[in-house]
This record gives sequence, structure tokens and C-alpha cells, in this order.
Amino acid sequence: MKTLFDKTSIGQLPVNNRFVRAAIADSTLDGYVNDSVVETYSKLASNGVGSIITGINLVDGEEQIMPVIGLCSDSFIPGHRRITGEVHKYDVKIIAQLVYIGSYAFIQGKNGGLVTLAPSSVSNLITGTLAREMRVSEIKLIQNKFAEAAKRAKEAGYDGVQIHAAHGFLLSQFLTPYYNRRTDHYGGSVENMARIILETYSLVRSAVDYNFPIWVKLNSTDGIPDGISNSDFLYVCHKLADMGVDAIEVSGNWSPLALKPGPYFKDAAEAVARENDVSVILTGGNRKFSEMTEILNTTKIGFFGLARPFARDPSLISRFKRECEQEAM
Ligand SMILES: Cc1cc2nc3c(=O)[nH]c(=O)nc-3n(C[C@H](O)[C@H](O)[C@H](O)COP(=O)(O)O)c2cc1C
Repeated sequence: MKTLFDKTSIGQLPVNNRFVRAAIADSTLDGYVNDSVVETYSKLASNGVGSIITGINLVDGEEQIMPVIGLCSDSFIPGHRRITGEVHKYDVKIIAQLVYIGSYAFIQGKNGGLVTLAPSSVSNLITGTLAREMRVSEIKLIQNKFAEAAKRAKEAGYDGVQIHAAHGFLLSQFLTPYYNRRTDHYGGSVENMARIILETYSLVRSAVDYNFPIWVKLNSTDGIPDGISNSDFLYVCHKLADMGVDAIEVSGNWSPLALKPGPYFKDAAEAVARENDVSVILTGGNRKFSEMTEILNTTKIGFFGLARPFARDPSLISRFKRECEQEAM
């Protein structure tokens, strides 16, 4: 029987257990890592989580008006080294999450004059921002920024990077028919809608070594009528798995589901794990040790992402360990 405390590997990355701290954005006013951010990661690592996905790191300095961490120039690297140095003291792995936000984060009129980019010029359903449709040259530019940020992450000592293609951020919007109404080769068919993500993966892969882990976080559902279909989601997963992605984190539009019993995206994650030879992290609504153990032993899902439970209780792993020991008795 498999247990949540197995020492195993996520893709090629050895980890001490199957718990992943799912990303939680870190706030900093100027984008630089500060003491409080370092302390957050130190606390998580010292309490024994297997691996940590950082909060979003901006790949483009233009978006640095957002009060979150950046990896958009070399000047950010020393701060990130503080995080990785601290986490590695505890033999815990840490993955830098990379993001281009786009229209999702900027409330109409409050974006500091930034021209907000999106697959097509439609209003953001959350922020109301009417973005401008990206030119192909802008797509290429942002893809390169992901690759450059990945190189910086590696230089800063991270154990891998995660491309954030979920939660309505730019890359995920390309997979959402409501946001992507393009008629060029980045819109229309699923092959076209997926192109930006697959190309970004390839560019990031060539920017770092073949043995540097690259994970991708994807929405299995957008929770809107014109959202990603299950078959399109599975198509992207197949493609990424074939291209050698190290792990797929299965997420979705989690916030309206907060009051529902989780895990919210188990069926989608189960299908990805069944159909592909890739490590799958199921995130969203994981709360019960016994339920995660059951999923681990009845599906091919191997890893469990938790965000809010770690925010509430950084020593969660010790509690789970006690439950594990009680079950073994
Ligand atoms: C305060 C907060 C900040 C978050 N920031 C991020 C983020 O930076 N990147 C990301 O991919 N997800 C982010 N999430 C979503 C979580 O990673 C996770 O997908 C979601 O909370 C569902 O998991 P949970 O039920 O374990 O909390 C955030 C969630 C919360 C509550």
C-alpha cells in the first residue's frame, strides 16, 4: 500500500512525502523578496512538507505594479536565493511559479495606465478590464520572458519551475473560448488554443537543462459557460506529457467551490493520471488524510496540493503524521 509519507519522486525530483504546498501569492510592495516572505517559506519547510510551489512570480516587469514577487530581472535573484537557501536547509524542494497576469488582475481603470493584454479584446469577467488583443509578436515576447525567468529561477537555486496556465491568467485564457476568439493560429481549434502553452513549455525547456523540472498548473474547468471543455483540457495534458513535462497540477475555478466538500477536481486529475505517464498533483479541497490515502491507492494520482490548509496551520504535516501513525497501529 502506498502512503502519503512515501519518499518518492515528482517526475525526476526526489521528495520526502507526497504533500505539496500549492501556490499562495506572497505580497511585497516592490516585487523584491523581504524577510516576511523568507519566513513564510522557512516555516513551511521546517514543518516537513515534501515540496513547495511559490506564489506567483511575475515574468514581465511591466506587470510589477502588482504587489507580488518578481523574477523579471536579474536584480531579483539575490532575494530568491534567500528563499531557496532557507528551504534547502530542511531537505525540502521548492519550485518557482511563473506567471503573466494579463487582464485578470487589473480592475478597469486601476492598472496604472498599463495596456492590458489578452488573447482577444473581451471584458474580463472578474475585473471588468477590457484588454487589447495580443499581436503575435507580443505572444513571442512574453513566451521569451517565461524562458528568461526560468533561467533566473534556476540561477537562484530553485529545484524547478511551474508555468502557471490556470486560474484565468493569460496562458489559461488562451484555452478558454470566452477569452480566446482569435482566428489566427493561436485560436479556433484546440491545437491552436493550446499552441501558446506548448510553445512556452518548449522555450522554457530549452532555456534550462533537460533535467531541470518543469511543472504546469492547468484549469480542468473554468466554471463559466464558455469555459475550457474536458476534452480540450485532456488534449493539453496529453501533449505536455508527450513533450516530457515533469508534473501537471490539476486545478480549476476553485474559489466558488470553497463551501463544497473537496477534492474539487479529482475526476479530471484521475483521468490525466490514468491516460498519461506523468506525475499528477491534485489541488483544491484536499482536507482529509484518509481521503487522500484512498485516492492515492485507488487512482494513479500521486501527489496532493494544499494551499489554505497550510496557510491556516503550517504544522499540518505533523498532524497528518500522527494520523498516519495511528492508522498503522
Ligand atoms: C490567498 C491565496 C493566494 C493564492 N495564490 C495563488 C498563486 O499565487 N498561484 C496559484 O497558482 N494559486 C494561488 N492560489 C490558489 C491555490 O494554489 C489553490 O489552487 C486553491 O487555494 C485551492 O486549494 P486549497 O483548497 O488547498 O486552498 C491562492 C489561493 C489563496 C487562498
